[in-house]
Amino acid sequence: MKLFVTGGAGFIGANFVLYWLRHYPEDTVVTFDALTYAGNLENLQEVKNNPCDVFIKGDICDKNAVRSAMDGCDVVVHFAAESHVDRSILDPSPFVRTNIVGTHVLLEVARERKIQRFHHVSTDEVFGSLDLSEKQIFSEQTPYRPRSPYSATKAASDHLVRAYFYTYRLPITITNCSNNYGPFQFPEKLIPLAITNLMEGKKVPIYGDGLYVRDWLYVEDHCRAIDMVLRHGKIGETYCIGGLTEDINNLSIVKKILAYMGKDESYIEFVKDRPGHDRRYAIDWSKIRNELGWEPLHDFDTWLKETIRWYQEHQEWWQRVKSGAYRSYYEQQYGKSL
Ligand code: NAD
Ligand code: TYD
Repeated sequence: MKLFVTGGAGFIGANFVLYWLRHYPEDTVVTFDALTYAGNLENLQEVKNNPCDVFIKGDICDKNAVRSAMDGCDVVVHFAAESHVDRSILDPSPFVRTNIVGTHVLLEVARERKIQRFHHVSTDEVFGSLDLSEKQIFSEQTPYRPRSPYSATKAASDHLVRAYFYTYRLPITITNCSNNYGPFQFPEKLIPLAITNLMEGKKVPIYGDGLYVRDWLYVEDHCRAIDMVLRHGKIGETYCIGGLTEDINNLSIVKKILAYMGKDESYIEFVKDRPGHDRRYAIDWSKIRNELGWEPLHDFDTWLKETIRWYQEHQEWWQRVKSGAYRSYYEQQYGKSL
């Protein structure tokens, strides 16, 4: 099988490419990635000399480039996106372009190329925000209520993908997954930002009261879920994917990281809240468990410690990433230099 993986040089995409070539060494993976600030070829170092790994630098909004790169591919796995909520608040334009226009270009070319499966990787953020007091959790039946430019553009892309199934019978599947953590995550996101700031002796910024809740999943569990949906998922269906954490808030996560890294709570710094900050995400993943037999295999405490260890062992990777353009983003977002 020949897979066309968009965004394969980013965090989850790279983990997926490495996962796929470890498990299916007979397949070919064409990674198509624009190498934005979030894309990094170093993430694919492990498969650099593997003849089954093909890298093509390209923009998913560029139809001609997508057309020639997708030639001969059987399956599309679409990760490429602008993915950071805070950046979407600073400037929504690249989110509209890549997440909506780019997804549309891919759908058009997938139709032309008669792709056997178009798998769209999406987020639980499309469902909006839950209250801390309610027991409700997101499922495949939850209505879409996105509240950030990021989640609104991901919601739009989900709608387009579904529309191509109903209108043109393009064989699609969609997964809506909760917050991932693990190796190669760009240090703008909470967990790697906390770990790398602490390694540099800096404080960890916590938005608002810190009582915001996310569901957390180790990235390899996400890759395995996509694998199972590709092999056994039903065409046209959506699957929600989530982890094993139960309503853990940001403050508790940062306190765990501080404890594992031997730091005290003076390293916590409460900062201005994110506008429109979604209070709580929680996800019901019983459909993928009951229908495909998937469940998370990585518990949060063990794999949070493993993730800390990964960043400790890959200082060069994140120090390079944190230099350059990231510094000016940090200054704009947090009002102080790194
Ligand atoms: P990321 O920001 O780490 O990586 C995105 C990748 O897409 C980068 O390699 C970047 O270069 C590439 N890209 C961006 N614009 C492009 C364009 N126009 N053309 C080609 N490539 C482009 O993102 P991530 O965290 O790995 O997320 C991957 C996907 O998973 C996204 O679609 C995201 O919405 C979804 N998702 C992420 C999470 C999470 O916790 N990170 C959770 C659920 C779903
Ligand atoms: P993030 O990793 O940006 O993921 P998302 O917003 O997509 O869920 O943020 C996770 C949570 O951590 C979210 O509630 C915002 C919060 N957060 C902070 O408190 N401080 C920070 O510096 C960052 C980046 C996030």
